[in-house]
Amino acid sequence: MVDNTLLVGRLQQLGRHFPAVPKNLETAPIRVAVTGAAGQIGSFLVNFISQGRMFGPYQKVILQLIELPQAEKALAGTIMELNDGAYPCVHQIIPCTDPMDGFKDCDVAVLVGARPRGPGMERADLLQANAKIFQAQGAALDKVAKKSVKVLVVGNPANTNALIASHYAPSIPKKNFTALTRLDLNRADSQIASKTGAAVADIKDIIIWGNHSATQYPDVNHATIGGKPLREVVNDNEYLNGPYITKVQKRGAEIIGACGKSSAASAANAACDHVHDWWYGTSGKCTSMGVISDGNSYGAPEGIIYSFPMTINHEGEWKIVDGLTIDEMSRKRMDATGKELVEERKMALGI
Ligand code: NAD
Ligand code: LMR
Repeated sequence: MVDNTLLVGRLQQLGRHFPAVPKNLETAPIRVAVTGAAGQIGSFLVNFISQGRMFGPYQKVILQLIELPQAEKALAGTIMELNDGAYPCVHQIIPCTDPMDGFKDCDVAVLVGARPRGPGMERADLLQANAKIFQAQGAALDKVAKKSVKVLVVGNPANTNALIASHYAPSIPKKNFTALTRLDLNRADSQIASKTGAAVADIKDIIIWGNHSATQYPDVNHATIGGKPLREVVNDNEYLNGPYITKVQKRGAEIIGACGKSSAASAANAACDHVHDWWYGTSGKCTSMGVISDGNSYGAPEGIIYSFPMTINHEGEWKIVDGLTIDEMSRKRMDATGKELVEERKMALGI
């Protein structure tokens, strides 16, 4: 058996703000559905969740793991490994090949199952292959998930897939559908850490705007390192306005080029960060997530899933950080990524 006290200590050393040990350890288990659970990301993700990386080491989870029928055997293998982990957080594991079973009463759904891109492809090239998956999963969530379900879409193109799923789940609030841009934010932080030698924990308020694609805009204009303006500390605007942005935008392709397959552990890690912060709140800290745009924030077009800076309260309600000053270069980049999302929506939903 894993010693939870040790685990908490280790996680706190890593700077993760897990909640204090609950007074009542008998809180109801959280039902988490994961699609593509036997795939590259899925296998990391279900292990991370079981180790307490998503909800903390004291919160029990019921894992509802969804795979295609042809991957049933691989899923059985993934579950054998989870069982062999003897994780105290795992209350029950339910394998499924029908999303109507897999999403039943779930509190959280992480939609990973989709085709990944290969070398030379853009993420939007996956729209045709993956759109039907998110249509069917949206419809299933609509019928069987809790109406309060928090949905995170990881499968690419993540923003537009989240929009498709939401479109086909009209009974679930649109604010409950989000897309993963936390991997981009983690990459943006990590690049600055290696450029400056600063600790990642000291880097605050970098923003990912727009699409999880090569048009995304990692914005450092409001960011700080150890409380000082990031631009002052880095002292290299040519790098920050050029190679830095391109590096973050194209990091996914760089990994595909090096490994022959897309990022897996870092994507699963970012999914844990995203859901953790959404579930427990950010305690005033700013993060980035793709969420529905109502057309009133930072000129992002209405009705697309666009990544914004946000804070999340302890009830799990996100709020876009408002009032930031946007300079001309940022405006152009934010408009370009919004335009791409409008085009993707047209391709996916014809609107
Ligand atoms: P993978 O091919 O290793 O795994 C995908 C799994 O999904 C497979 O096991 C497959 O059987 C399953 N699957 C396919 N369709 C399904 C369906 N309808 N229902 C249930 N399961 C289904 O791929 P991967 O590397 O794990 O990547 C998965 C997706 O995540 C890809 O679209 C990839 O581009 C995307 N991705 C997104 C980010 C991000 O930051 N948003 C990061 C990395 C990868
Ligand atoms: C990533 O950013 O690593 C993923 O979206 C995979 C990809 O296709 O780039």
